[in-house]
Amino acid sequence: MKLIHLSDIHLTAPGSTIGGRDPRYNFERALAHVLADHSDAELMVITGDLSNCGDRTDYEWLRGRLADFPVPVRLCIGNHDDRAAFVSVFPAFSEPDGFVQGFHDTAAGRCLFLDTCEPQTHAGRYCEPRQDWLEQRLAEHDGPFLLFMHHNPMPTHIGPIDQIRLLDDVRFRQIVARHREKIRHIFFGHCHLPLGGSVAGVPTTSLRGTNHASYPLFSETVMVNACDLPESYGVAFIAPDYVTVHMVEFGYQGTMETEG
Ligand SMILES: [Fe+2]
Ligand SMILES: [Fe+2]
Repeated sequence: MKLIHLSDIHLTAPGSTIGGRDPRYNFERALAHVLADHSDAELMVITGDLSNCGDRTDYEWLRGRLADFPVPVRLCIGNHDDRAAFVSVFPAFSEPDGFVQGFHDTAAGRCLFLDTCEPQTHAGRYCEPRQDWLEQRLAEHDGPFLLFMHHNPMPTHIGPIDQIRLLDDVRFRQIVARHREKIRHIFFGHCHLPLGGSVAGVPTTSLRGTNHASYPLFSETVMVNACDLPESYGVAFIAPDYVTVHMVEFGYQGTMETEG
């Protein structure tokens, strides 16, 4: 089963740039690249920071842009998103309790989409109602599960990023630990960095955004950095006995030689 992972598309007004990059232009480039190489993907998930400022107009544009996209798409929200504005445009991706969470069954298992956002802060939260929701979803099905979320569920040890990590990450990892045998992989975004590791023994990966890129600058203790590394998206191949995850740097402008 092939799955596409996009994150941190940070849409903003047409023609506007963030850090010298145009989010809509780069999102279009990512979609074109996905269609050229991976139109056979079963699912594409965008793990948040969909709109840079939580603007309803960005969500309306995204809904229109994805309407005829041939790969099914699911969305998570991030700290730059506005939950109410998002839900007003994508009501099907939220639950009656208001959180943007849900599930989608694939050939590789049941995908769970988590809401880690908290108003008025860039840090992530996973409050008791959301913890209960995740416990119930994991308990009611045999799996396997794939989890998707915006905030990093484990520390990166880069100070500015960890200040806005999932602040309830210990509780989150305890839930994962109780169900680890059924969870194949956790995909997340937010850090704008290629990352790999594990959460309570469950493998996890992240990647650069389709617009935003950061450098792992451990000497910086205050500010999250932005750099000019290539814009990226992810491709995951999920088989019964392995998972392979690529970060495709579609923004790479350099040369490429092939050997035969
Ligand atoms: Fe972001
Ligand atoms: Fe974020």
